[in-house]
Amino acid sequence: MVDFKSLFIAALAAARTAEAQYTLTPITNWGDNPSNLVLDVFVPETLGPNPAIILALHWCSGTGPLYSQSTRYNSLAAAHNYVVLYPSSPKDNNCWDVATNQSLTRDGGGDSTGLANMVKWAIDEYSADPAKVFVTGTSSGCMMSNIMTATYPDLFAAVSCYSGVAAGCLAGSPGSSPQTADPACAAGEIIKTGDEWAAQARAMIPGGYNGKYPRFQTWHGDADFFVNYPNFAEQLKQWSTILGVEFTKNVTRSPGCGYTKMVYGDGTKLLGYSARGVGHVVPTHEEVDLEWFGI
Ligand SMILES: *[C@@H]1O[C@H](CO)[C@@H](O)[C@H](O)[C@H]1NC(C)=O
Ligand SMILES: *[C@@H]1O[C@H](CO)[C@@H](O)[C@H](O)[C@H]1NC(C)=O
Repeated sequence: MVDFKSLFIAALAAARTAEAQYTLTPITNWGDNPSNLVLDVFVPETLGPNPAIILALHWCSGTGPLYSQSTRYNSLAAAHNYVVLYPSSPKDNNCWDVATNQSLTRDGGGDSTGLANMVKWAIDEYSADPAKVFVTGTSSGCMMSNIMTATYPDLFAAVSCYSGVAAGCLAGSPGSSPQTADPACAAGEIIKTGDEWAAQARAMIPGGYNGKYPRFQTWHGDADFFVNYPNFAEQLKQWSTILGVEFTKNVTRSPGCGYTKMVYGDGTKLLGYSARGVGHVVPTHEEVDLEWFGI
């Protein structure tokens, strides 16, 4: 077993010096918390009216505070007028629950319910613009971003996440961590049609849902042998079916050397970023995320 934590140490070391100066505030009173999650929040010193909210989800073995130090969302918050929610999952090797029916059901009483309640609390607490709520995350955090998109599409305007899997890929697995999960999903062996993935995501909202789904972009390294590269295409199948857009073209060297932007439809609803020769840790591209969010 690869030491999962060591995968992220380099990313952490690079960013932590700069980001360590930003203080997070622990929050305990954000509402119903059925799976005992933890919440820390970053609020810039100068927050304008009606800020945006970004829900930022850590990798397995990580925490919200560690994720805040390994990314640059805090240093960009004042200029773009947003608050960042950094929750932590203290169970199953600090992974998000992307396997149980509770978490894979809207208001099912699992992690997705607790995270949705944090977002609702934050909109109220900071008088945020409910049309500017976003979710991002890496690895387990991207898997959970897919679950949040499926279970609470009405809460989020857009998603940008790194190195994850389609919503439902780990459904029914005994756990969600490298140590406890059915390995077939991370190995890239769960292959379905777009219609099958879409039906599975839609079924996560009991009673159905006819509203909008968020704009979605996902990043993946083609040398990822931890959450294998086929999971990138499976996510794109799932959300292209739900968003009703088909692959139109590739744009090479976007956003930089080695990256290919895969455009669906006119590029306003769904994008994939394929990183050539990159493994499980695709560097976060904060400015590209913020541009996608439109803030
Ligand atoms: C999943 O959970 C929901 C909400 O608690 C429940 O209505 C549904 O029957 C469950 N489905 C399965 C397959 O257990
Ligand atoms: C688009 O780029 C992806 C990632 O590099 C590649 O797998 C795919 O074959 C490309 N598609 C076309 C039509 O060039």
